Amino acid sequence: MDDPTSDLLPGTMPNALDAYWMPFTPNRAFKAAPRLIVKSDGIRLTSHKGTELLDGSSALFCSPLGHGRPEIAEAVRAQLLENDYTTSFSMGHPGSFALAEAVCRLLPEPFTQVFFTNSGSESIDTALKIAMAYHRARGEGQRVRFVSRERAYHGVNIGGVSLAGMVRNRETFPVTMPNVVMLRHTWHEDHRFTRGQPDPSGALGRALASDLERIIATYGGGTIAAVFVEPVAGSTGCLVPPVGYLETLREICTAHGILLVFDEVITGFGRLGAAFGTQKFGVTPDIITMAKALTNGAIPMGAVAVTSEIHDTIVNAAPEGAIEFFHGYTYSAHPAACAAGLATLKLYESEGLFERARDLSSYFLDRLYSLQGHPWIKDIRGIGMMGAVELYPDGAPGARGTQMQDALFWNGLHVKFTGDTGILAPAFIASEDDLDQMIDCFGATLDKFQS
Ligand SMILES: Cc1ncc(COP(=O)(O)O)c(C=O)c1O
Repeated sequence: MDDPTSDLLPGTMPNALDAYWMPFTPNRAFKAAPRLIVKSDGIRLTSHKGTELLDGSSALFCSPLGHGRPEIAEAVRAQLLENDYTTSFSMGHPGSFALAEAVCRLLPEPFTQVFFTNSGSESIDTALKIAMAYHRARGEGQRVRFVSRERAYHGVNIGGVSLAGMVRNRETFPVTMPNVVMLRHTWHEDHRFTRGQPDPSGALGRALASDLERIIATYGGGTIAAVFVEPVAGSTGCLVPPVGYLETLREICTAHGILLVFDEVITGFGRLGAAFGTQKFGVTPDIITMAKALTNGAIPMGAVAVTSEIHDTIVNAAPEGAIEFFHGYTYSAHPAACAAGLATLKLYESEGLFERARDLSSYFLDRLYSLQGHPWIKDIRGIGMMGAVELYPDGAPGARGTQMQDALFWNGLHVKFTGDTGILAPAFIASEDDLDQMIDCFGATLDKFQS
């Protein structure tokens, strides 16, 4: 085999491709036929072979503003030259407070404090610890159980893997947190090709959420600390909750003193056509995790927002002058990340991009659902500016998805695949013409494969 590194990575050792152990990647296949991006600008990407691609998934749901925004780059540069790093352990810098306040302004009223992390996975671990600390502070330390959901993705740290409902992400890691119980997932055969939330009658939503009543009947509501759900399950392929589902979970949690956590790592910052899923669905959780689009993906950062009730309970339980919450990361609220976050939120507002996402959604979904009828397509789901095309498997689960992803890349479209499901989540700056090109490319690639 030719050494693919020689012209790909000029100036590096011949085995440079080999030296990087890539995440969530079939490494051997990738290194035999690499796909590298060497430039990104707006929604256009350039491969190492000079071909151009449209970014159909905002990279990994990270970049609603499109790539290469000079406002973010300049804010980060200025910050690094002014003050490149300050610890947030018993010190601080102004950007962290400004960004926390800006995030709170995007959230419903009860959310008054934000804890910064560096990723979605860290946000999940942080939320787990906040839930534990809150119940201990209230004298309810016996709440040691967590409820999650089949087909959930909450990142890859041990906390997130313990909550995970995706078999491949957990079967090789047998040592996870104990005491996690699963709700059923919300996908239902009868509601294939539904646009938006399935079953307006609310019957399905209430029935699925009533799993929580059954868990409570088995374990006792007083032993459960929190329920974690993505408002729309993103990584498993845009599973939109049926009407009434989130509302019912909220009611049950409230009745039993259980915290409700919305993992909004994908749904946060306009993806559903409202600032967060909480506003989209009109259901207010107790804790919200976020990451990705907080900085438009330009600098790693995550955050956890909590209500004043949670914050004050934990803080006021500690003696005056003591550290109230024994948790934090060296890079919590890194100045460069805060600068990127502030610049990003400013652009969302000045360009009216959450409203644009809301308005563009119906065109995007019209085009997405125009793929319906292709014999390889098992289901299409979509809401806001996120949609999934689930293909029938061909042999081993995921084999067809892997082939499609590669073919799409060389046909000019990046789409994130999970198994056999392609998940589209275009940047909010995309034009209707860009969306046409994305869907046309997806359809043409499917046709080419099939023939
Ligand atoms: C809902 C959800 N939670 C958590 C994560 C983990 O985020 P990260 O990869 O930044 O750790 C993801 C990543 O896709 C996610 O979709």
